[in-house]
Amino acid sequence: MLDKINELLTEIDNLTVASLEQLEAMRIKYLSKKGLISVLMDDFRNIPADQKREVGVKINELKQKAQDKIQSLKEQFENVDSGASDLDLSRTAYPISLGTRHPILIVKEEICDIFKRLGFSIAEGPEIEDDWHVFGSLNFADDHPARDMQDTFFIQNDPQIVLRTHTSSVQTRVMEKTQPPIRIICPGRVYRNEAISYRAHCFFHQVEALYVDKNVSFADLKQALLFFAKEMFGGDTKIRLRPSYFPFTEPSAEMDISCNICGGKGCPFCKYTGWVEILGCGMVDPNVLENCGIDSKIYSGYAVGMGIERITNLKYQVKDLRMFSENDVRFLREFEAAT
Ligand code: DAH
Repeated sequence: MLDKINELLTEIDNLTVASLEQLEAMRIKYLSKKGLISVLMDDFRNIPADQKREVGVKINELKQKAQDKIQSLKEQFENVDSGASDLDLSRTAYPISLGTRHPILIVKEEICDIFKRLGFSIAEGPEIEDDWHVFGSLNFADDHPARDMQDTFFIQNDPQIVLRTHTSSVQTRVMEKTQPPIRIICPGRVYRNEAISYRAHCFFHQVEALYVDKNVSFADLKQALLFFAKEMFGGDTKIRLRPSYFPFTEPSAEMDISCNICGGKGCPFCKYTGWVEILGCGMVDPNVLENCGIDSKIYSGYAVGMGIERITNLKYQVKDLRMFSENDVRFLREFEAAT
């Protein structure tokens, strides 16, 4: 019997298993009620009394060893298993904090989404433009002050190549290539030679909208603008249109909305008038249509242009325009909830 026990002791010492199932099989083989060690315990009753002490100690040793071995193999397996499933070798060593979307981008998308709901689609054009697309085609007279070096950045002293001063240039780009119906919204960056301060910057962002078709009227423009204002600033928002002048629209207007900060009662933001200006608009001047090869006797259209910074200021009351381009993460994080 002692020989049998010693044999099992070495067997258990050298025991290796490849899976948890095999381990369970080993546990059953050695330690279950009908396992080898139980069989030995049963036989133990029949051995001579003078051997009982020695054999008893050995059997206990064997049982203990079997239990310890199975337990330690089990722990090894559990560690390997959980380690393997949790281990992601592609993870970076340091936590990366998530960024936030820029407020200008958030508002740009909001403006575009509202116009998309009215059937407009996005159009884009180059930031480095020629005089024709930025000024000439849009009915700017040769001596118009906007063409002055004080307002416009020219490229390498070539007066024909400029950084676009407004996204109205995209109107022309699209109308030259497409016959009506045209219904586009053009977001983008524009440049003006301004001294940088809390209220002016040498670059900023605009969104231009253009609708050209048969029988487009000023009433259509007004309806679209009212829809836009209510969607953007809330259902109680009122609009008012004031006559204005732009070379590329006739008639032209500027639109105010009821001040969304004081609700129209009057506050420092609206200079106690209850109204704040948000955009320029008008009926596309027939000259502009003709410049782009569209018959102005058949078609008419409206155009709208607005500054994204201005709308963002109104929505979030950012007091200093420079904040938008400084990339101070403390400022950008303020917009986490809006992202
Ligand atoms: N392009 C004008 C600007 O930069 C904005 C503008 C006004 C666009 C009236 C328009 C418009 O389409 O109809 O100041």
